[in-house]
Amino acid sequence: MPARAETKYRLVAMYDELFATGMKDKWGKRVYIDLYAGAGYSRIQGTSTVLKGSPILALTVQHPFDKYIFCEQAPELFEALKTRANRIAPSADINFVNGDCDVEIERILALVPRPSASNTVLSLCFVDPFDFGIKFETLRTLSSFYVDFLVLLAVGMDANRNYDHYVDGNSTKIDDALGNTQWRKRWKESGARRKDFRAFLAAEFASSMESLHYLHQELDQMKLVRSVEKNLLLYYLALFSRNDIAYRFWKDVLKYGTDQPSLPWE
Ligand SMILES: C[S@@+](CC[C@H](N)C(=O)[O-])C[C@H]1O[C@@H](n2cnc3c(N)ncnc32)[C@H](O)[C@@H]1O
Repeated sequence: MPARAETKYRLVAMYDELFATGMKDKWGKRVYIDLYAGAGYSRIQGTSTVLKGSPILALTVQHPFDKYIFCEQAPELFEALKTRANRIAPSADINFVNGDCDVEIERILALVPRPSASNTVLSLCFVDPFDFGIKFETLRTLSSFYVDFLVLLAVGMDANRNYDHYVDGNSTKIDDALGNTQWRKRWKESGARRKDFRAFLAAEFASSMESLHYLHQELDQMKLVRSVEKNLLLYYLALFSRNDIAYRFWKDVLKYGTDQPSLPWE
């Protein structure tokens, strides 16, 4: 069984590949944005296995994106990413942003090429925080352009461990991630049990994306990843687009991104 990170990289790599190839002749420019980019490579915990991280996966697709924007907050990871990305793809058009993506969002937005009738622009934005620390306002800002979002909803550990703090305490973390405060009332009125809280949050996030005119996403269209040892729900990986074509690619990812050993094009 693949570990949490291996599943993520496998699905993200597949989606990047389908998106980059499939949108190539449909849009003037394809932009890849990684808001939580990391160092470029990642070691699987407790092993010596090192895997390509999301920025390197995006840089090494068969038909590279026309532009890349990588944001990473930690200075040492940022420097490592810069060195690795420039070495792996010396001719790629890459903008590096060192900082908190929520603070730097206007700077990131300014780096996205302006579309025109003769030069259309579609971006794919990967959102991959360690926990459910997304700020919905950041996604709202980016969504003023044509941007598809691939979002890792890390509701697992976080929502379980901090349930009381989020539901009855003063924490605004979930309010920030969902972009509203009404979720609390909806949760209490739903009468659902505590164990359903994570699924509730994922569904609420999908509703928030719908408010930005993204197509409706049911939970069964998200990839649910559980831990290998204890079978605990870790995260949902979800795609949000305003266009059906993206969902066709995503369906293929869900179909082939299971535990089968190889993919049709491998
Ligand atoms: C789960 S890792 C993602 C790694 C990368 N996407 C990958 O798949 O290889 C999250 C990364 O986001 C960075 N980070 C955390 N909060 C951030 C923020 N607000 N803005 C930008 N980067 C952040 C962390 O330093 C860490 O490298």
